[in-house]
Amino acid sequence: MEQINIGLLGLGTVGSGVIQIIDEHQQELQHQTGSAVSVSKVLVNNKTKERDMDTSHLILTEKAADVIEDPEIDVVIEVMGGITEARDYILQAIQNKKHVVTANKDLMALHGTELLTKAEENECCLFYEASVAGGIPVIRGITEGLASDRITQMMGIVNGTTNYILTKMAQEERDYEEVLAEAQELGFAESDPTSDVEGLDAARKIAILARLGFSMNVELDDVELKGITTVTTDDMDYCNQLGYTLKLIGLAKRTEERVELTVQPMLLPNDHPLASVQNEYNAVYVHGEAVGETMFYGPGAGSLPTATAIVSDLVATIKNLKLGAGSGFASRPLHTKAIQANEE
Ligand code: HSE
Repeated sequence: MEQINIGLLGLGTVGSGVIQIIDEHQQELQHQTGSAVSVSKVLVNNKTKERDMDTSHLILTEKAADVIEDPEIDVVIEVMGGITEARDYILQAIQNKKHVVTANKDLMALHGTELLTKAEENECCLFYEASVAGGIPVIRGITEGLASDRITQMMGIVNGTTNYILTKMAQEERDYEEVLAEAQELGFAESDPTSDVEGLDAARKIAILARLGFSMNVELDDVELKGITTVTTDDMDYCNQLGYTLKLIGLAKRTEERVELTVQPMLLPNDHPLASVQNEYNAVYVHGEAVGETMFYGPGAGSLPTATAIVSDLVATIKNLKLGAGSGFASRPLHTKAIQANEE
């Protein structure tokens, strides 16, 4: 059986999940791809660091070139995070004709167009399902599942940290600071939660979805954003009394005239499907001209959910590689006056 060698950039929570899924789901991977898949080299910050997992079957290296320049490596998986180095390594890997899978939403929101263009020029795949809503296959859902439709609106709870905070504030009548501290203790929120609570993380994800859903060159600055730092327990009380639920909603909406991109706290009627999405869970509610309303729901982060999306991208990559086709998610055709209006 043909062997596919993977180079992994990063061995944190998500990286170790990738190794676990590749090891434990080998039978599924072989069935889907007709190949034996294994991680051969891993880029780490510190080779001698003690880890919770067995790394005896892996070659750990502190030099990126050992991975991205190794001719034996077919696919590079980037799970190191950050922007500058991750971008450089992915560009070099593509230059070396390696296919790439990344979970990096910050990078794809800022440099997605450049990286996808380079991948196309070099006939390489570049997939990034895990960059939006972790374990929910929403990118594949909108690019493939709804490929025949015209998407008019995507409304998403795409940040688990803020959804956890708003859920607890509403259900337990606790204030923002207290719930944020609890979320940090439980590991749901980062020690510096700024990009989550100010709405930037959700804006990055909405920019990626809008780019694919509406086939536009959306930049991060095109998303108007407001976070949840000023939400009070009084706000929650009023919502409750009026039969509404307050959620941080990323909205990408297309009309004949224009495309609207926002991230902001919004009042949803309690019977709206997004109102029942609780704690750290994510959901994306999509409206298509033909399909009507549909919703994607599930875990938006976490080691194994995120790693599932990454390894599924790996399966898609290997299938494409066998067909001799380099590609990523197909963006949708341009078809509206709205897109032209926004670009004017
Ligand atoms: N900080 C992100 C969140 C992690 O809270 O949703 C997943 O992208």
